[in-house]
Amino acid sequence: MSRDIRITPSILNADRENLSSEISRIAAVSDLIHLDVMDNIFVPNFTFDFDAASAIIKASPIPIDSHLMVAEVDEIAIAYAQAGSASVTIHVEACRNIRNTVRGIRAAGARAAIALKPGTDIDDYEEFLDDLDMFLIMTVEPGFGGQSFIDEMLPKIEKVRSLIGDRPIWLQVDGGISLNTIERAAHAGADTFVAGSAVFNSSDPAAMVQNLRKLASLTN
Ligand code: DX5
Ligand code: ZN
Repeated sequence: MSRDIRITPSILNADRENLSSEISRIAAVSDLIHLDVMDNIFVPNFTFDFDAASAIIKASPIPIDSHLMVAEVDEIAIAYAQAGSASVTIHVEACRNIRNTVRGIRAAGARAAIALKPGTDIDDYEEFLDDLDMFLIMTVEPGFGGQSFIDEMLPKIEKVRSLIGDRPIWLQVDGGISLNTIERAAHAGADTFVAGSAVFNSSDPAAMVQNLRKLASLTN
């Protein structure tokens, strides 16, 4: 059975001074734009505050996938859903009440997702699957673009794929996805792929998105 494939380019390493033109280069061939929100507390890097992120969400021509790498994410996650994100992902390591928060995200009209850092075990989080629209397995330590894909995450992706079974939950991978790694991630069961530096360091970002999609679809 072949799964639907989604490519969600991350604008983390795009030209921040010209974001709307950067987004317009890939919008027609991408499923969602992946927006990395970092607070310099949960991760050692800062990207956007809520107002700046909201402006990007409102101006985007295609849906936004907000990946919140922020401490004490419970309340701000709902605000990101209310601001118009199509999808909001919280880190389990930063959340006090996962069930309430994912339900709040959905009640505000967005898809809800949880993310696990590479060192976080899946076992404690299976119980949330029925409240989720997407599950994100980080394939690098969150914080920076341009890192190498961690191959040791492949069994974790396989495990989540088998736990999902036939539920319509997207399985996303984020970090180090490129022409060299996307087939491995797809073969392990991922269907939704974040790609930052692979897309925006390419001379033709739209062609790169299409090539990534082709490889993931062939493998799938
Ligand atoms: C890392 C971010 C990623 C990052 C991916 O913490 O969550 O979304 O932008 O960048 P690449 O694709 O370059 O690894
Ligand atoms: Zn991300």
